[in-house]
Order: sequence, then C-alpha cells, then structure tokens
Amino acid sequence: MTEIPEHLLQRSRERRAALGLGGGDAGAAPASPASESSGTEVTPAASTAPAPKPAAAIEPEPKAPEPLPHYVQASQRRQRIPVWAVPIIAGLIFWAPIYIGTLSPPEETGGPVAAGGEVYSTCAGCHGPAGGGGVGRQLSDGEVLLTFPDWQAHADYIIVGSGPYEGQVIGDPDRPGGAHIGGEFGIMPAFADSLTLLEILEVTLYERVTHGGADMESDDIVSLLEAIEAVEAGEELDPASLSPGAATEDPPDSAEPGPADSP
Ligand code: HEC
Repeated sequence: MTEIPEHLLQRSRERRAALGLGGGDAGAAPASPASESSGTEVTPAASTAPAPKPAAAIEPEPKAPEPLPHYVQASQRRQRIPVWAVPIIAGLIFWAPIYIGTLSPPEETGGPVAAGGEVYSTCAGCHGPAGGGGVGRQLSDGEVLLTFPDWQAHADYIIVGSGPYEGQVIGDPDRPGGAHIGGEFGIMPAFADSLTLLEILEVTLYERVTHGGADMESDDIVSLLEAIEAVEAGEELDPASLSPGAATEDPPDSAEPGPADSP
C-alpha cells in the first residue's frame, strides 16, 4: 500500500472543509483531486471530489417564481375606470332621468291643432310662418280674433276667400282699429276646392289658438272642436252654420210653423 504524504492528506481535508463536506480524514483518502496526486493511484478521487457540485447547482433552481401570464399582468396594471370615462358616467347619471322623462307620452301630439298646423303650411307663404303677415294680413298677436270673434265666420272666409267680400265688411264691423273691408289689403284665395272641410276647420282652430291666443276651454273653441269631431265622424256640416253671422243670428227654426205653412 502506498503511503499518502501527510501534506496531501492535509490539503484534501482543507479542500473538503472548503466545500462544506467536513468529517473527511484518512478514510476518505482518495478525496484529493486527481490533478494534484502526482504519481499516486488516487484516480477515484476524480469522481468523488466534484460530487457536491451538482448538489450546489440544483440549489438556486427554485429561486425564480412562475411568472404570471402577460394578460394577467396587464389586467393588474390597468385602471378599473379610465379617467376620461368619469365625466361620461357622471353625465349619464344626470341624463338618465331626462331620458326617462321623454318616454312618457308627449302632450297633444297629433291633435287637431297640430293637424291644423300642417294645413297652415299652405298659408304661411302669404301670412308668415308665425302669422306675422306679409302678402296676407297679420293673424298673430290676436289680430285674427279681432276680425272673427266666432270661428264660423273665420272658417267661412277661408272657404270663399276675399272675392265675395269685395267692398264689404269682413267679420266684426266694430273691429278695434277699424273694420276690415274685402279687397282692401289684397286678394285672399278661396280654399273650398283645394282643402277639405276638415282641413279648413283644423287650420281655423290652429290660427285661433296659435295666432289668436284663444283659450282651449273657451266656448268658441269647444264648439269648434265639436264640429271637427262631427266632421271626422263623417257627419255632414250644415253649410248655413258657417255663413257669416251664423253664430250670432238665430237660424230660422224649421220646426216653427211659418207663414207658408198656414192655409
Ligand atoms: C296668395 C296669398 C295668400 C294665401 C296663400 C293665403 N292668404 Fe289669407 N289673406 C291673403 C290676403 C291678401 C288677405 C287680405 C284680403 C283682403 O284684404 O280682403 C288675407 C286674409 C286672410 C284672413 C282674414 C284676416 C283679417 O284679419 O282680415 C284670414 C283669416 C286668412 N287670410 C286665412 C288664410 C288661411 C287659413 C290660408 C291658408 C289656408 C290663407 N289665408 C292663405 C292672402 C293669402
């Protein structure tokens, strides 16, 4: 058996101690690195000495925690409500009750006044979009009610136009500011042929309410609304009821026995 010089054993111990293996002594003689065992048969040392190395290499392996997927990281970085969305959301909170309010049924849409407003588009060219006048007389600011205190004479004038009134009083002879005389201001066309009776009653209503400022509850307007309903229902409207002064003069009662009936 070959003697291992003491200085080599010492080195081996130091080396083992440095590697943290400890406890090594003569029994573990072959531990000394092969490179340094000049001439001695210590080849197995080559396999035993580096053994701790893999153990050391494995150690740092668990250090890197599994990184989160990029989409999870992005969702963690992202702000829950973007800054620009804050005023929009605040605005929506105020807008919601306004929107809900618009869902309730609109008032009076599609009523006879609105229907008359559509008919009035044929009159607006001469009388102005708001009835302020132009080629035709002013109707607004109550003017039309001054000329025609009753709707019947008003409607009749639209049916026949200014022709039959040439040189005669239109409507109220005691009109404030002087009676209107047919043809004085110009020619008002007759609408008997171009508008239906219903349309004429509707535009009469529109002018009296919108331009004249008539009260929807007044007897005159209630009476006109009844006439509109009757015509809508297909009832015939007695043309005599539209003749000027029909509303003020009592129409002759046919039931009353006249002189012609007596033998
Ligand atoms: C081509 C122009 C013209 C058009 C269209 C026209 N008018 Fe007239 N209108 C006149 C003129 C002009 C007078 C005044 C007539 C006169 O002096 O006798 C008048 C007078 C009137 C008056 C009497 C006003 C007053 O106080 O004396 C009423 C009511 C009226 N028009 C209603 C209507 C209605 C309703 C329509 C549409 C269906 C209409 N007009 C379309 C020209 C027009």
